Amino acid sequence: MPDLAFDHPAELHLNPARKAQYGPAQSAVLSEDGFAAAVAEIERWEGYAPTPVVELPGLARAAGIGWLGLKDESRRFGLLSFKALGGAYAVERLLAREIGARMGREVTLDEVRARRHPEIAAEITVCCATDGNHGRSVAWGAARFGCRCRIYVHETVSPGRAHAIAAFGAVVVRRGRTYDEAVRAVAEDAARNGWRVVSDTSYPGYMEIPKDVMHGYGVMAEEAIRQQPHVPTHVLIQGGVGGVAAAVLARYWQRFGAERPRCVVVEPSAAACILESARAGRPTVFPGDLETIMAGLGCGEVSPLAWTILEPGADAFMAVSDEAAVHVMRLLAEGALDPPLVVGESGVAGLAGLLAALAAPDQARALGLGPDSRVLAFATEGATDRETYTRLVGRRPEEVARRAS
Ligand SMILES: Cc1ncc(COP(=O)(O)O)c(C=O)c1O
Repeated sequence: MPDLAFDHPAELHLNPARKAQYGPAQSAVLSEDGFAAAVAEIERWEGYAPTPVVELPGLARAAGIGWLGLKDESRRFGLLSFKALGGAYAVERLLAREIGARMGREVTLDEVRARRHPEIAAEITVCCATDGNHGRSVAWGAARFGCRCRIYVHETVSPGRAHAIAAFGAVVVRRGRTYDEAVRAVAEDAARNGWRVVSDTSYPGYMEIPKDVMHGYGVMAEEAIRQQPHVPTHVLIQGGVGGVAAAVLARYWQRFGAERPRCVVVEPSAAACILESARAGRPTVFPGDLETIMAGLGCGEVSPLAWTILEPGADAFMAVSDEAAVHVMRLLAEGALDPPLVVGESGVAGLAGLLAALAAPDQARALGLGPDSRVLAFATEGATDRETYTRLVGRRPEEVARRAS
C-alpha cells in the first residue's frame, strides 16, 4: 500500500471452520422469511429511505484494491446509525404480541404502526441496556408506537448519548460499570417490575427478541445487495456483541451460498470477544474493563445467537486499536482522496481493519486482498456523539458535512 501511511497493526485470526452451507441451526436464528418480513415492514415506516453506498475510488487506488464502497448509515432515520432498524422493529413486533394477548386476538403491525390501541400500548414498558445507539432506537420505537420506555446506561456512556435517548421521552437509568453489567441489571429490574426487555444481545433464556432486532439490521444488508451490480469479494463489518455482523453475513450467505463474499468481523483490541471466542472455539468472555473509544463495540460477551452464525460463516476476525479508528475518522473527514464523510468511532472499525490488513502483506495475502478486490465496508454510524466526534477529528460534523456538499 504505497500511498497511505497506515501504521496501526491489527490482530488477524482466520477461521478454519468456515462452512459452505447455511444450515438449519443458522436458519433457526435468522431466516429468509424473517428478513423479508423486516424489509416489507420497515419500508412502510414514515421517513424510510435506503442509505447510500458511497464509492471511494481515491482511497481504493491509494490502498491498492480495485473498488471500495462504504454503506453510509450516518443519516439513517435521523438517528445517525443502522441501529434504528433493529430495536425499533423489535419494539413494534413486541407491541403487536402484547396488545394482541391483552385483546385476545391477533394484532397486526399495521395496527401498531397506526397506533390504533393507544391506551393499551401506554400501559406497556419496554427497556434495555445500551452503549448508546441501541437504546436510542428502542426509545425512538417506543415514542413512535406509543409505549413507555426505560433505558439503562453504564457509567462510561457519555452525557451526549444519554441526552439523545432522553430526548425521545425515555427514562434513562445509570447502572453498572460495563455494558454487560447494565444488561444484567435491566434484566433483573424488568423481571421485578413486569417491563419487557428489548435487548440486542441474547443470553440463556432470552433468545427470541434479539432475532427480531437482527432481522431488522438485515434491511441494511438487503439494501446493499440490491444497490450493487457486482457481488463484492470482501465485506468488512464491525462487531460488538456480533448481532449486526451475523445479520449481514447471514443475508449474503443465504443469497450467494458458497459464492458469498469473504466476511471479516472487526472489533476493538480492548473488547475483542468474538475474536477471542473464535480462537478458543467457543463463546469466551473478554477480560478487562473494555475501555475503547468505539463505544458501540465495547462488549465482552458475544451474543450466542450471533455466534451460531459467525462461528461457521465468517472468514476471519480482526482487532484494531483506537488509534487506527481515529486515523480513519480523520482520513474520511479530511476528504483528501475522496469527498469528505462523517463516520463515527464505532462506524470506522471495518475500514480500519481493511487498511491495517493492506498495510501488512502477510495479512493481505491471507485474506486474498489485492488489486482485483472489490470491498464493501459498513460505516454503521455517523457522529452519534457530536462532542466526541469533534474532539477526535478536530472538526465539527456539520463542518465536514458542509464541505462534502
Ligand atoms: C455504530 C455501531 N456499529 C456497530 C455496532 C455493533 O453491533 P453489535 O453489537 O450487534 O455487534 C454497534 C453496537 O452498538 C454500533 O453502535
